[in-house]
Amino acid sequence: MKPIKLSEDVFFLQVNHFNRSLFDSLIPLPEGTSYNAYLVKGKNKTALLDSADPEKREVLFDYLKDVKELDYVVAHHGEQDHSGSIPAVLEKYPNAKVATNPKCKELLMTHLHIPAEKFMEVKDYDTLDLGGKALQFIYTPWVHWPETMSTFLKEDKILFSCDFFGSHLATGAVFSERNIVHDPMKRYYAEIMMPFRSSIRANLEKVGKLDLAMIAPSHGPVHKDVEFVTGLYRDWSSDAVKNNALLAYVSMHGSTAVLINRLASRLQELGVAVEKINMEHFDEGRVAMALVDAATIVIGTPTVLTGPHPKAVYGAYLANALRPRARFVSVVGSYGWGGKAVETIAGMIPNLKAEVLSPVMIKGLPTAADLARVDELAALIADKHKGL
Ligand code: FEO
Repeated sequence: MKPIKLSEDVFFLQVNHFNRSLFDSLIPLPEGTSYNAYLVKGKNKTALLDSADPEKREVLFDYLKDVKELDYVVAHHGEQDHSGSIPAVLEKYPNAKVATNPKCKELLMTHLHIPAEKFMEVKDYDTLDLGGKALQFIYTPWVHWPETMSTFLKEDKILFSCDFFGSHLATGAVFSERNIVHDPMKRYYAEIMMPFRSSIRANLEKVGKLDLAMIAPSHGPVHKDVEFVTGLYRDWSSDAVKNNALLAYVSMHGSTAVLINRLASRLQELGVAVEKINMEHFDEGRVAMALVDAATIVIGTPTVLTGPHPKAVYGAYLANALRPRARFVSVVGSYGWGGKAVETIAGMIPNLKAEVLSPVMIKGLPTAADLARVDELAALIADKHKGL
């Protein structure tokens, strides 16, 4: 593979992984992913920015086959999809130093056993001059680990942002297009960035002071439309929710589905946009994306062995872990002879700073009176949304 030229002496080493279906043994990758490294050549020194997942190491090394000397490997992040091939890079280039912050150094030492003498620690806003190309390190913590940082290349107005602004999208395209990158970016934000909204806002402010022509993340295509992608992040990380309700449910014999369908219809009649997701076949990314905007989350569950259905438990656990900005939450469902499904779900979501709206838990197949209670819940949700 030939390195892809982004600007003079700045190259994109795009390592696509089209067939990867799962990340972290957890997150579905409907469009694959990529691990992007970048090469910056100064008059005196050469730096590689990040590496690639070890599973695709040979692609990275193919890009590097004509690179005789490497002076620095900049590590923006300790997670192995970007750092995992650094030990092999250091074997090929034994004189190279790993330039990173102290937190990332510690992670790379413990996770990859890279010896301390291989590192060059950098501070926030430090500059590394390669000769006509100066790399400025910008600490961007908690996007999405504590050690994450970015690099600003002032001469070319490029921000190398690692996971920040990334997307799980394997593509032959070098540059992103709005309509193609929007959903993969949102999915990625929802899955790993959403719990850290306040840090994201601080980092957006920090990088917003830079004069940027390009943002080059370590997953997905490079962004020339800087205003578009920073605007998306500003929107998603703000405190403003939308007039949306997420109805995430599972149904065993149809009763919970009847309640959820009724709730969806009534909410739509009342002008609330509804995302209805059956968790029987769980797509964590789809649920996470819906959580980004929802003002209300309703979990629908039947009762299994006196408690909520395990898939509803998983949905509640996921929502709690991702700390979405939802303002209201409720539970609907049915039971056969008793149970504590509502109490169990309610106890699982302490991170949601949301008002609990009266749950609708019914016995058996819904009656007309039960459906009237669902209608009341719909009216309450619509009313609450008007007050946002
Ligand atoms: Fe793409 Fe957090 O690693």
